[in-house]
Amino acid sequence: MTTLLRNIGELVTNDPEWGGRYGIITDAAVEYDEGVVTWVGTEMQARTRRSDQVVDVEGRAVIPAFVDSHTHLIFAGDRSAEFESRMKGAPYAAGGINSTVLATREATDDELRDLVRARIDEMHNQGTGTVEIKTGYGLTVDQESRLARIAGEFTDDVTFLGGHVVPPEFADDVDAYVDLVCGAMLDAVAPHATWIDVFCEEGAFSVAQSRRILEAGMMAGLRPRIHAAQLGPSDSVRMAVSLGATSIDHGTFLTESDIELLSNSPTVVTLLPGAEFSTKQPYPDARALIDAGVQVAIATNCNPGSSYTTSMSFCIALAVREMGMTTAEALWAATAGGAKALDRDDVGVIRVGAKAHLVELSAPSHVHLAYRPGVNLVRRVTF
Ligand code: NIG
Repeated sequence: MTTLLRNIGELVTNDPEWGGRYGIITDAAVEYDEGVVTWVGTEMQARTRRSDQVVDVEGRAVIPAFVDSHTHLIFAGDRSAEFESRMKGAPYAAGGINSTVLATREATDDELRDLVRARIDEMHNQGTGTVEIKTGYGLTVDQESRLARIAGEFTDDVTFLGGHVVPPEFADDVDAYVDLVCGAMLDAVAPHATWIDVFCEEGAFSVAQSRRILEAGMMAGLRPRIHAAQLGPSDSVRMAVSLGATSIDHGTFLTESDIELLSNSPTVVTLLPGAEFSTKQPYPDARALIDAGVQVAIATNCNPGSSYTTSMSFCIALAVREMGMTTAEALWAATAGGAKALDRDDVGVIRVGAKAHLVELSAPSHVHLAYRPGVNLVRRVTF
C-alpha cells in the first residue's frame, strides 16, 4: 500500500539530484511502500499521483532519520557519580570502563535485552532509524560473544570492541589480553559482528596493540574502525587510515597533519560532541575538517561513561553551537555522514529505493534542530 506524505514545507533529501549537497526541496512530497521510498517530487507533481493513502504534513519539515553510527548501547549499571565528579573538575579516564564491565557481566541476557530495547525506543522516538552497537563491556570470550549476539538482535551493525580496555584480570599482562582478543575472543565474536574496533589511547591500547587487533579482525572478515585521538593526539590516526578504516571516531585532538591525511582518504571522521559535553574536553574543530574536505559524521556515542545521551538532535545542536558547523552540515553528518561511516547507501538519504526512514518534525525547517535545543521536535516517523 503506497503512502504519500504531501504538503511538506521543506524536504531534506541529501540527494544532490535535487541541487546542492543537501538536496532540499521546498513544497515537496514523498511516497513510500513497504518500507521503501517509491517516489520523491514537488507538491505540484504530487497532485497527479494516485497513492493509496495520503498524509498532509501541513507545511512541516521532513528529514531522513538519523543514523547513529557510534554507540555502546549494551551495558548495565550507572556512572552518574562519575559524571558529577567530572562536573566538579575530575578528568575523564579510560579506567572507568571497568566499573561498567562488572555491572554488565552480572546482568542476565534478558536484563541486557530490556536495557537495549529501552534505549533503542528512546532513540526511535527521537528520530533515529539506524544504530550501530559495540560490544566492549564484557571482555571475556563468553561475555563478548554474548554481547555481540544480543546486540545482533537489534542491529545489522555490530562492532567487536574486545579492545575497549584491559580488564583487571589482565592488568599485569596486557599483551596476553591482546592475544586473547585476537584469538579465541575474535573467533567467538566474529560470526555475530561486522566491524572491528579498538580504543587506542593512554590507559587502553597502544598503537602497536591496536594495529594487531584491527589486523586480526580484518583477517577474520571484519571491517576496521577505531576510537582515536579522544584524549590526546595519536599516531593511531595514520595507522588506521593506512589500514583503510571506514571511520575514525572521536578525533577530539586531530593534528593538522592528521587532517591533511584524512582529506586525501575515504575515511570518515565521526565526531561525538556528547563526549566533549560530558567530559568537559575541548570540542573538535569540525569547521577545519569540513573546509579541508574531510567527510564528517556525528553520532551520540551513547555509553554510561563519557556520553549518556540517545539524542542526535542534541548532538546536532552542540555541533552547531560549539564546532563551527552549519545546521545543514550537522544534519548531513548525522544522517548521510553516519551512513557513510557504516558504508551504507540505503539510509541517511531520501531517494527512490532507499529505506523509508522519514522523520516529520514539529517545525518548518531543519534549522530548528539547533535553534530549539533540548526539545524533541520529532512528530512522526515512518519506520
Ligand atoms: O567512546 N572511549 C571509549 N569508549 C567510550 C567510553 C566508554 C566508557 O567510559 O564507559 C567512548 O567515549
